Amino acid sequence: MGHTEAAVHDTSSRVSGSRAEYWMPFTANRDFKNDPKMVVRAEGMYYFNERGDRIIDGSSGLMCVNAGHARKEIADAVSQQLRELDFVAPFMRGHPKSFALAERVAQLTPGDLNRVFFVNSGSESIDTAMKIALAYHQANGEAGRTMFVSRERAYHGVNFGGVALSGIVNNRRKFVSGLHVAHMRHTHLKQNYFVRGQGEHGADLADDLERFANLYGAENIAACFVEPIAGSSGCLVPPKGYLERLRAICDKHKILLVFDEVITGFGRTGQAFAAQSFGVTPDMITMAKGITNAAQPMGAVAVTTRIHDAVMNAAQEGAIELFHGYTYSGHPAACAAGLVTLDIYERDDLFGRGRAMSPYFLDAVWSLKDHSLVTDIRGYGMFAAIDLAPDGAPGVRGHALQKKLFDNGLHVKLTGDSALIAPPLIAEKSHVDGIAEILDATLRSF
Ligand SMILES: Cc1ncc(COP(=O)(O)O)c(C=O)c1O
Repeated sequence: MGHTEAAVHDTSSRVSGSRAEYWMPFTANRDFKNDPKMVVRAEGMYYFNERGDRIIDGSSGLMCVNAGHARKEIADAVSQQLRELDFVAPFMRGHPKSFALAERVAQLTPGDLNRVFFVNSGSESIDTAMKIALAYHQANGEAGRTMFVSRERAYHGVNFGGVALSGIVNNRRKFVSGLHVAHMRHTHLKQNYFVRGQGEHGADLADDLERFANLYGAENIAACFVEPIAGSSGCLVPPKGYLERLRAICDKHKILLVFDEVITGFGRTGQAFAAQSFGVTPDMITMAKGITNAAQPMGAVAVTTRIHDAVMNAAQEGAIELFHGYTYSGHPAACAAGLVTLDIYERDDLFGRGRAMSPYFLDAVWSLKDHSLVTDIRGYGMFAAIDLAPDGAPGVRGHALQKKLFDNGLHVKLTGDSALIAPPLIAEKSHVDGIAEILDATLRSF
């Protein structure tokens, strides 16, 4: 602690609320602490600040509160679970809800992605999937497959594996990894600007994977990771035919195809997973966020029975098959939250609801296209991004916009100069209108 802080760090500072100690993630800390954007309560589509002002949630928190905020059923289930069984070691011990949740997740995943490994975040799901890919190839006698392929502008979380896969330069430039990763080109093409849904141009960009197979030797490549819709870098919807082509190239070269569905999972695209919306089934799906409606930290990796069984069968009977796991893998409270969340999605048909609302939502976002600062809009399902012309350095305008939007009553996640609009799937037309109106008025004032 520095001298000046020591002077204010007494008991009264706890009462008045010191802001010095908390180092905030992915935040301009000094800027925030000078002009804090605090919320103290949430309900349904809204956050509330200390004054009781309503702030509409235009990004489902961080694209995770798909069923809307503060669902009583989830809170009750978590509370009940913590009273009944707060924790049990997930290594060599079990509890019924982790098995039950795995079964429910497997019912939602496409194809035979029916084996589920629990983790605590999207980042952990990525590093877990990378390890499973390596373990699978080793089990098949192909230990040489250690290289990974991902894509420019990819976001796969912040652990070292995910950062190595990452295609967002600020997330990688200071964090060196020894992993061998080749990055395909991203799919944000001028020809597709302002196109709703999937663009016509760019399927051939998938051939970068074929080039890598030739350049590095397909026998050295373990897996290709992509977000079906690149989320954090601005809702990059895959061009028509692109994911199909990746699937075909992976099949040809026995490269595992992994869809990172941390954002796109649990209804964002109108189906449980984007894999179903786009009709392409990967070998693994990583997920988090919406699995518990963000009420508890949780993530998961769904893998095919083929991958699972290969890893199982490679180990001796009675031996641990995969030397990987977290203390809180399948935590009882997270499983309780997950089970109720999936009940809500099903009971209220929230994926169908999002699918039905999507045209109205996309119309509302596209109504902003004539603003002089707007350079591109993309969208699919209940997810869209609006790109703004930079104001000098990249991200300056985006940062100013997100602050002003909040002050005007709208929470929106910005990455650089891209505003990510992804309301909870409970949104009514009036909420969509409210989001568009605040965006419109705020953009006008810029
Ligand atoms: C596609 C994708 N993968 C991984 C992650 C990392 O998830 P977490 O922040 O839970 O670690 C995110 C987070 O936004 C994401 O969008």
